[in-house]
Amino acid sequence: MQVSTQLESVASKFALYQEICEQLHELLANEHNLVANAANTVALLKQRLPDVNWVGFYFAEDGDLVLGPFQGKNACTRIPFGTGVCGTAAAEARTVIVPDVSKFAGHIACDPASQSEIVVPLLNWNKLRGVLDVDSASLNRFDADDEEGLESVVSVFMASLVSDDMPDLSEEAACG
Ligand code: SME
Repeated sequence: MQVSTQLESVASKFALYQEICEQLHELLANEHNLVANAANTVALLKQRLPDVNWVGFYFAEDGDLVLGPFQGKNACTRIPFGTGVCGTAAAEARTVIVPDVSKFAGHIACDPASQSEIVVPLLNWNKLRGVLDVDSASLNRFDADDEEGLESVVSVFMASLVSDDMPDLSEEAACG
């Protein structure tokens, strides 16, 4: 690919994620329900992201990741931490990009069409709440720009939820 074409695609990818984040912020503005906001987040991503065949959430529950709202073919319902791409991202609390799933030891094939994958952890004050998983039927579909873009999408989603275990950062609490 020519450098100018590469730069254009980086700029348009950045613009796309910026638009998605703005749209998502509006979409989630008046709702705090986890299932409702997760459902709208995956629907928006599936509509807006090109070349993606599965988008979904898994939520952390007793050392497992349990299937949440998704768009795509039926998927496995429970993944132990440390297993597959999702379990690795959860156990290590970091985004994992897999350019070719056939080369990732332990990859769990839900939709056999999936060839590459990115998994972003959902973190709330360093506590792992789950992951966002995005799959593509193309090899090498996701790069560092998708990582940055999807981490921003996850931040908008997490900010929309009411958390009952956030530390009290109010001035009164700080001053005692
Ligand atoms: N491929 C994932 C499992 C989830 S599906 O792709 C929907 C993994 O290896 O963790």
